[in-house]
Amino acid sequence: MKISQRLKKIVTMVHSHYDHIWDCCCDHGLLGAKLLDNNCANTIHFVDVVPDLMQEVSTKLERFYPAVDGDVKCWKVHCIDVALLPLADKKNIQLVIIAGIGGELLVELVQAILAKHPQHSLEFILCPVHHIFEVRKALAKLKLGLIDEHLIEDNQRFYEILHVSTQSQQAVSLVGDKMWDLTRLIDQRYLQKTLAHYQRIQVGLLKKPNQDEAQNSEITQIIETYQALRSQN
Ligand SMILES: C[S@@+](CC[C@H](N)C(=O)[O-])C[C@H]1O[C@@H](n2cnc3c(N)ncnc32)[C@H](O)[C@@H]1O
Repeated sequence: MKISQRLKKIVTMVHSHYDHIWDCCCDHGLLGAKLLDNNCANTIHFVDVVPDLMQEVSTKLERFYPAVDGDVKCWKVHCIDVALLPLADKKNIQLVIIAGIGGELLVELVQAILAKHPQHSLEFILCPVHHIFEVRKALAKLKLGLIDEHLIEDNQRFYEILHVSTQSQQAVSLVGDKMWDLTRLIDQRYLQKTLAHYQRIQVGLLKKPNQDEAQNSEITQIIETYQALRSQN
């Protein structure tokens, strides 16, 4: 089974064994299947909102990961909105993975999960396809702390992957911290591309007849934070 570099990297970031891992927005279910192969949890949950997809995932799991000798299966399929995730009891150790969706939706889903389970200790591995700065800002606001973070390039796109938890005290940096190694070409290219992106937005904003001061100052702050990162290295 061939999986992308991005999903492979997420798999390598699952170091511990969990009671439950929730592969949210799982689509094809390839990530969860790899986690099943690696025996990363007692139960791996496959969650997506599209019924046909989930039927297909169920059929494949029944075939390739059947229950052995009448034992309970080590996977479950849920065709639901991730915002309604039916987490196990709070004494269980649980990891929620959300990858491959936009940053705005990802933040909404994390917010909904936390609001529904305020007493749970939870870990999340998150890999949005856009708007990582906004995601980082929201995670910090939600008081999620950093465990680990990585930058990868896959199929000519860059992705930041964040491992955070409700228990970690390490603040989530707005532009990333331990993921950067600016001696590497990929990091230099990503930083350059990200700065250029925000500088283009800034030019666009400054051309607008009715200036939004708050928006202008936010973009300036983002640019300055990335520039500071460059000058530190
Ligand atoms: C591009 S796929 C991502 C697949 C995989 N996680 C990855 O990173 O390659 C996005 C999936 O998110 C699902 N999705 C979007 N919003 C959702 C929601 N609120 N609840 C559950 N699934 C959702 C879509 O049905 C789709 O299958």
